[in-house]
Amino acid sequence: MRLAGKVAIVTGVGQGIGHAILHRFVQEGACVVALEWDAQAGAQAVAELPAEQVRLIVGDASAQAVVEQAIACARESWGGLQVLVNNAVRYSEKSAIDTSDEDWASTLDSALTGTFRFCRAALPLMIAGGGGSIINLSSVNQRVANPRLAAYTAAKGGVRALSQQIAVEYGRQGIRCNSIAPAFIATPRTMKGVSQKDAAINDSCYPVGRVGQPIDVAHAALFLASDESTFVTGTDMLVDGGLTSLAASALLSTRIRGWWGLAPLDMKDFP
Ligand SMILES: NC(=O)c1ccc[n+]([C@@H]2O[C@H](COP(=O)([O-])OP(=O)(O)OC[C@H]3O[C@@H](n4cnc5c(N)ncnc54)[C@H](O)[C@@H]3O)[C@@H](O)[C@H]2O)c1
Repeated sequence: MRLAGKVAIVTGVGQGIGHAILHRFVQEGACVVALEWDAQAGAQAVAELPAEQVRLIVGDASAQAVVEQAIACARESWGGLQVLVNNAVRYSEKSAIDTSDEDWASTLDSALTGTFRFCRAALPLMIAGGGGSIINLSSVNQRVANPRLAAYTAAKGGVRALSQQIAVEYGRQGIRCNSIAPAFIATPRTMKGVSQKDAAINDSCYPVGRVGQPIDVAHAALFLASDESTFVTGTDMLVDGGLTSLAASALLSTRIRGWWGLAPLDMKDFP
């Protein structure tokens, strides 16, 4: 019951990380406004949760009207707001040259502008209630880049910077604001079309020997939402199995692979 008495908003609860955060928060006693634009996925996500602890809103998390609806729902249902998790995102997997103005605008709108709008709307209610914790999903991609994620990577860098900004601006009013930077997390979206062999190669790239699961991120969010983290603000918390600490060249070395119990690289896998 680490979140007993707390009211939270979580965006993008239909699957993956947002789904895990919603369920973990409810298990720990929070009352949650759950936001999802896929009506069926949203209904399924809340179906087995206690009705008195959850309100589902179906809508676009980056739209100002939906943001206001979610804030009003928290206030009217439970009298305030202590935790906000900005998780929902729409992906554009394109290189810089291939990114159209529409790709750029829609990715920034969903990943960065929606996060900003939710923070702006939540802050007065949180401050009026004595403070709160804002948790924004960034990504390791704003520290180490992957090809074909130009708009996404830029947006996630903005999410990290915005989180620091809010932490500094409103810290004295009881607000903490952090971002979480996951590496590859196995969700229905990220695992789509991934063969067993590719999954094994992906696992072997991580110092802990596996990619992440949604629950790994949910546990980090739980810590940041709870009173156990009252001295933690303005940080970008890596939940990456050590990926960004690893020198990529180590993965190529037969000696280091041997240390980890991995077979030497089969160059046939790298055309
Ligand atoms: N999965 C990963 O490997 C990974 C890695 C780094 C960062 N992240 C970040 O974690 C967060 C969640 O990622 P995920 O992989 O679980 O995503 P996902 O695509 O699996 O799930 C996102 C959910 O949010 C919903 N959604 C998307 N846009 C929405 C909107 N505008 N309004 C309402 N609902 C919306 C989708 O319908 C879906 O149910 C994202 O911010 C993502 O950038 C994920």
